[in-house]
Amino acid sequence: MDRTRETAFKAAREAGGLLRERVGHIKNIDYKGAYNIVTDVDRASERIVLDILKGEFPDFGVLAEESGAQTAGSGKRWLVDPLDGTTNFTHAYPFFCVSIGLESDGKVVLGVVYNPIAEELFWAEEGKGAWLNQEQIRVSHVDSLAASLLATGFAPDTRSAEDSNMAQFATVTELSHGVRRDGSAALDLCFVACGRLEGFWEMKLSPWDTAAGSLIVTEAGGRVTNLAGGAFDMSTGHILTTNGLIHDEIVSILTRIRSPKSDTLTGAAQSERD
Ligand code: IPD
Ligand code: CA
Ligand code: CA
Repeated sequence: MDRTRETAFKAAREAGGLLRERVGHIKNIDYKGAYNIVTDVDRASERIVLDILKGEFPDFGVLAEESGAQTAGSGKRWLVDPLDGTTNFTHAYPFFCVSIGLESDGKVVLGVVYNPIAEELFWAEEGKGAWLNQEQIRVSHVDSLAASLLATGFAPDTRSAEDSNMAQFATVTELSHGVRRDGSAALDLCFVACGRLEGFWEMKLSPWDTAAGSLIVTEAGGRVTNLAGGAFDMSTGHILTTNGLIHDEIVSILTRIRSPKSDTLTGAAQSERD
């Protein structure tokens, strides 16, 4: 495992170096679909990461945000978000990262998330705890939603979606210390892992957003489920993660909130209940 870990560290740090150098100096902004921003730096960062990972482990598969899937026969697969927080990056808002997960036979066994601005490298290996640089991290001990700080996010199609997460955002904001929308799901997950946040939820994320961060939270003693408290499935993208102590309280809120647009249970919560 040491070799995969060291290789993922190297890839995250080198790609992070590019992000640090290029923030505030972007040449091209394109759109994937109507609202989803992508820049030349997302693509360049992904090339750095994949060159390093594939150079060391040519027989591993890859699922990477900008170049898609490359299958392999080894039972191992890298899940790569070369720039999580592209919208922040394009505005020089300093909250973004590189996220690299490694799956073995369908299970995430290594997670590495690097914030190049804060120089914070969050990482975890299955069964070996979670770390921020050289320090072991744990989730917080706060045991009520009323005393919690949380984060959430909104999918790029928020403007048109029925289940936009706005009703949930408003309700949890009123019942807690607040809900941040900081714009990088992978870092939000790591902030739960190190106790800066008590919880985070979002709908419709992709496996490259959640693979590394979900292992880091689990290894830090937190809980990771879908929005209804059931098993988390990376392919559905609906994730709720907390320090464990406030989990049931948030599940009961998220599952009973009605969407103002449809006056029914929101799509994500409904489908997870069914
Ligand atoms: C996005 C960020 C954001 C989340 C979006 C993601 P990207 O990833 O993680 O926080 O709310 O749903 O798509 O596009 O910056 O890699
Ligand atoms: Ca992302
Ligand atoms: Ca991305």
